[in-house]
Amino acid sequence: MAESMKGLKRSHRCTEVSVANLDETVTVMGWVQKSRNKGGIIFTDLRDRSGLLQIIFEESECGAESFAKAEKLHSEFVIAVTGVVCKRAGGVNENLKTGDIEVRAKDIRILAESETPPFPVEENSKTKEELRLKYRCLDLRRPDIQRNLMMRSQVTAVIRQFLVEEGFLEIETPILTKSTPEGARDYLVPSRVHPGNFYALPQSPQLFKQMLMCAGYDRYFQVAKCFRDEDLRADRQPEFTQIDMELSFVDIDDVLDVNERLLQRVFKEVLDVDIQLPLQRMPWQEAMDRFGSDKPDIRFGMELQNVTDIVKDCDFVVFKGAIENGGTVRGINAKGQGGMPRKKIDALVTFAKGYGAKGLAYIAINEDGSYKSSFAKFMKEEEMDALVAAMDGKPGDLLLFAADRNKIVYDVLGALRLELAKQMELLDKNEFKFLWVTEFPLLEWSDEEERFMAMHHPFTMPMEEDWDKIDSDPGAVRAKAYDIVLNGTELGGGSIRIHQNDIQEKMFEVLGFTNEAAWEQFGFLLNAFKYGVPPHAGLAYGLDRMIMLMAGEDSIRDVIAFPKIKDASCLLTDAPNIVDEKQLEELGIKISVPVEETTEE
Ligand code: AMO
Ligand code: AMP
Repeated sequence: MAESMKGLKRSHRCTEVSVANLDETVTVMGWVQKSRNKGGIIFTDLRDRSGLLQIIFEESECGAESFAKAEKLHSEFVIAVTGVVCKRAGGVNENLKTGDIEVRAKDIRILAESETPPFPVEENSKTKEELRLKYRCLDLRRPDIQRNLMMRSQVTAVIRQFLVEEGFLEIETPILTKSTPEGARDYLVPSRVHPGNFYALPQSPQLFKQMLMCAGYDRYFQVAKCFRDEDLRADRQPEFTQIDMELSFVDIDDVLDVNERLLQRVFKEVLDVDIQLPLQRMPWQEAMDRFGSDKPDIRFGMELQNVTDIVKDCDFVVFKGAIENGGTVRGINAKGQGGMPRKKIDALVTFAKGYGAKGLAYIAINEDGSYKSSFAKFMKEEEMDALVAAMDGKPGDLLLFAADRNKIVYDVLGALRLELAKQMELLDKNEFKFLWVTEFPLLEWSDEEERFMAMHHPFTMPMEEDWDKIDSDPGAVRAKAYDIVLNGTELGGGSIRIHQNDIQEKMFEVLGFTNEAAWEQFGFLLNAFKYGVPPHAGLAYGLDRMIMLMAGEDSIRDVIAFPKIKDASCLLTDAPNIVDEKQLEELGIKISVPVEETTEE
């Protein structure tokens, strides 16, 4: 029978009790981690969000009635205990914050009983994620997840405080709105009052924050929920949170400066990690050439080398063919991996093919300096030597080469570099290497759409020095855009915005919008721009990703209280789900897909 809280008040959280409270009477409340009866003495580990505290029940101290209750305790019962703080009788437990004390119970109330949970509530759970997400409420009791969510709360608080100190205003923007141009699919919400019409959930507050700048608010921020219907990955959810900001009367350096100091503050206050400023900056092209990625992990080297010139005259058709087709040959040197067994090398080839490679050529340099290679037979000896020298190959090294279109070569070697770093254990989660990637291409050619698309969004300012190429060579125009990268993850991104009518119109033209289409979609912003628009710029962080990296997790699902799984469904609530026929009727909606099919997908 569940007892009430009547007349009872918690005095401490579990780990707030310490030797400073010796001989005091305290009242603690929480969940039973485990309880064991050692014949006449019952040891109970009590858990709340702060941690564990050992409670001792002996009949001579707590009385028969309380002892009888304590005998009934099982995991996850909710109890309140009043007792006296004592030095731990059975020796100190070094693993616990409260390991040198225990509370000798005088009184207990069972506030709620619990059925046997489907999995134990414990750190580093081995339980399958599906089960954990179905019983998320229990899963959220686990100490590691609780630490993550507490860290998340702290990070948000520090960011808010910092930005307010810097003169930013926190302003909310609508959730029921019109499509925003971040490039993913929109989530739509049907309107009852306007049958056949839909709101879109915001992919970001982009257009609204720009209008706030037009309206003179100067410095805005928001902890903003964003919604994107895109394929999910470990660092992507259909709804996620941005720390979103926009500033007026600034150029790139101003934006980067305030954000560097923000990151420095957050990492110092939350993790006690010192970040040296200024952060490193790298143009996009350099990032691609050196790391094969626009979000390079710079905790380790293994940089790409362009060996096109070295092999351009060789007879190996794979290299020759790629170069003749306008591609390149590049390689990476996996230091000390020359002894890798053939099977593991084959696995790397398969891995590379997953990124579009047609193959992966390799040279393993034996300890005696001789080569084991998949393509030596097509090469002259001096060509091999030149190649090895260009790669700084030493005995014991493994050299891996991709020959293809640049985009594929970058993708393949960029991914391979990370995979090898994982295998070689080069990645230290406690090391935080930030990098600004700048000078992104303004536009990106889409084979699918057969037109240029905005790499960031259509309001991103081109670099002045490239603007004259907008007609002759649009792909070569760089943007005043920047991403902040941490340990190979894109933490955030932003840009200087276009605030000149003529440049904006030209952008729409290059992107293939007619004037009407642009006004149809973004008219409200363009209209606002007619009445005095200040130069402005901004940036948004993915808060979930920031916490994931700070907490050393591999997935953002572990830092979101109620995340969705890969197919964008919620195992806890069974969302999305079918709705009443009546609701659909009110909205004027008829479902044309058989319902079985949609759920199967
Ligand atoms: P962008 O689209 O780069 O820029 O988004 C900013 C940051 O949001 C995070 N993010 C995500 N996190 C989790 N799940 C997702 N599906 C997801 N998508 C993005 C990333 C990313 O760096 N309006 C612009 C910002 C600006 O220009 O000011 C924007 O939204 O960490
Ligand atoms: P082959 O003669 O086709 O067996 O190729 C010889 C070697 O070149 C093999 O190790 C292939 O994996 C590799 N290879 C094939 N295509 C490519 C490519 N595009 N880039 C790099 N290596 C390749």
